[in-house]
Amino acid sequence: MEVSESTTQPQRVTQASGLKGLDFSKLGNHIVMKFHILMKISRMYDSKNVALSQFIQESLKMINNFINKEGSFALKIIRDDLYLNEQRLRYSVEGFTSFKYILSQWKKKLIGEVIFKEAVDERILKAFIYTLVDLEEGREENATLFNEKMAQQGITSVDVNPLEVFEGEEGDFTIQKEDQREVAKKIFFKTIGTVREVITQIKGNQHADVRKLKRLVQKTIHLIMEDESTLLGLATIKNYDDYTFNHSCNVSIYSLATGRRLGFPKETLTELGMTALFHDLGKSKISKKVLNKPGTLNQAEWVLMENHPLMGVETVLNLKQLGEINPRMVIGIFDHHLRNNLSGYPKLFRKRKVSLFGRILQITDAYDAMTTPRIYKKVAYTPAEALAIMLKDKGVYFDPILLKIFIGLVGIYPIGSLVLLDNREMGIVLKPNPDPQWMDRPTVMVVTRDEKADPKKTLIDLAETDGDGHFKWSIVKTLDPDRYYIDITKYFI
Ligand SMILES: [Fe+2]
Ligand SMILES: [Fe+2]
Repeated sequence: MEVSESTTQPQRVTQASGLKGLDFSKLGNHIVMKFHILMKISRMYDSKNVALSQFIQESLKMINNFINKEGSFALKIIRDDLYLNEQRLRYSVEGFTSFKYILSQWKKKLIGEVIFKEAVDERILKAFIYTLVDLEEGREENATLFNEKMAQQGITSVDVNPLEVFEGEEGDFTIQKEDQREVAKKIFFKTIGTVREVITQIKGNQHADVRKLKRLVQKTIHLIMEDESTLLGLATIKNYDDYTFNHSCNVSIYSLATGRRLGFPKETLTELGMTALFHDLGKSKISKKVLNKPGTLNQAEWVLMENHPLMGVETVLNLKQLGEINPRMVIGIFDHHLRNNLSGYPKLFRKRKVSLFGRILQITDAYDAMTTPRIYKKVAYTPAEALAIMLKDKGVYFDPILLKIFIGLVGIYPIGSLVLLDNREMGIVLKPNPDPQWMDRPTVMVVTRDEKADPKKTLIDLAETDGDGHFKWSIVKTLDPDRYYIDITKYFI
């Protein structure tokens, strides 16, 4: 089907060919970002402003492109998610702020759904945005008022529906104080975005904003001191296209939490966090074709791959802001694949002990890589499987004492594990028990067995006992979330 480029005239949709999964999600994300900016700039400018008109044109192109392909556009809030034409929209790293903005703004105005029944033009989109922005917060009849105002202007192609409140959610949408979880999420996604930004700058030989990254690491350290489990939960998020940036951020969280247990002062923690964020910097010199190769690598490709710690060191040393980089960081990057018995890579001419940063990274890097699905290994290990494999190799590949500390951190049923309880319910491990004697009794969130039902999010502490001193619930075994169609990430966002 031909997609019309004209965006100023409304067009009737005659045929919808449908967007493929990834395009659907990408375009959906872009439209949410456009809505975010449109709502923001319409607060600053009147509807005749030139900058606004330009932005309206760009937004129309995207919205109408979507409508031409899908037939219509319906963006709906269900609890804390956005559904586009009844499909839950997974947000991209860049889209995070826009998703949050749209969710909070629409919720405050008690608007739950926006429907564009056919392609729209500049006049209609402007009327939509200005009418929406003008709605008073918390007024129940907002949806009706909105539809009436549109009808008065002769617009029938845009409708809104009131916000639906789901069981257990009452009052949730009242103006919320930013709690720690929200701060943690913001910092987490901002760090992923900034790692991407800085690595791109380094690759392009531009001035890299290493300081910005350092500030984010310092904020992460502060959060880890206050509430470690929220960030460790976020580190279970592994479903982004850009593996390296997400992976670096996860490795940084695991490493910082380990460093904190080792009693590192803040300054050392900052260095460790930065080392973790840069540990795979050398991979930016390797083509995506090799990095994402589904099959086994040939010898030349392996040589390239095994050289990435050294290339990382080289890149870091060439950084103009070398002042921000400490020798400990450089050695840490070099050492992260050496393995405890030096059987890894790069090969050393003279035997020496692996540096402390290197030994920490070996563990946190391996754990995150093993629990992440990759192109060449579509089904990742569950957190418990990964730990079991690492324990088998302890001493040879990993520093046994550090591994013990790491297990104390993520628990023997690591955060993000899906477990079967003795009452036949399933739970997701949210927090290890702080008492080492009860490591097998973490706090879990019970999940419903029905894959279609919304998660109930009931928290239980497995250390809780009944009147007779018996534990109320116990873990029977860990389960593979893929087999039960459970998206663990959803429980941490
Ligand atoms: Fe690496
Ligand atoms: Fe890595």
